[in-house]
Amino acid sequence: MSRGFVALLFGTAAVCLSGTVWAADVESLRGHAVTDSSDPALNKATLAVPGGFGVGWEEQPPMIPHPIDKYSIDLRQNGCLKCHSQATFETANAPRVAESHFLDRDGKKLDRLAPRRYFCTQCHAPQTGAMPLVDNVFGER
Ligand code: HEC
Ligand code: HEC
Repeated sequence: MSRGFVALLFGTAAVCLSGTVWAADVESLRGHAVTDSSDPALNKATLAVPGGFGVGWEEQPPMIPHPIDKYSIDLRQNGCLKCHSQATFETANAPRVAESHFLDRDGKKLDRLAPRRYFCTQCHAPQTGAMPLVDNVFGER
């Protein structure tokens, strides 16, 4: 084993250890400790925006016009589907997930939500009362 390689091993171990110390209380869905020690995201409350949002372009995922702090999405359950699924939207008086959410990647219609549409907030974003850091000039040029 070359000396350089041994040094690299120790270096890697040191980085891993310090990562574990920083993120001791963070766990992945499968229960592994997460070793990313970056700053946690600011947790600002999400807002209700009466009337919702216009979309900036065709096929933009509409932004979420209501708070979502109480709903979680994980391996076992999806809080959004309590109101937006085929089975629940009428009782909840909420818009049903779009037709496109039932198509698989080959455009074949499924009889349930397509797995690639399961993590709603991958595409649909809520809003907070934060001031914009830069002006949004999308579409003005
Ligand atoms: C308690 C019921 C309920 C839950 C749970 C819920 N929603 Fe909604 N959602 C609504 C209702 C009702 C509306 C209609 C707009 C309004 O007045 O708030 C709506 C509107 C939306 C819209 C806007 C649709 C459009 O065409 O503009 C999106 C996107 C959305 N919700 C996504 C989500 C996501 C993502 C989650 C989970 C994180 C979620 N919702 C959880 C009830 C719910
Ligand atoms: C891969 C991106 C993506 C994911 C994931 C996704 N959506 Fe969407 N969603 C869209 C886009 C794009 C549209 C608008 C265009 C369309 O009709 O497909 C949309 C439209 C909607 C609408 C408006 C429907 C209407 O008729 O106006 C609702 C409600 C909605 N999505 C809810 C959800 C919920 C709830 C989930 C999670 C179960 C989800 N979406 C997951 C991209 C996504």
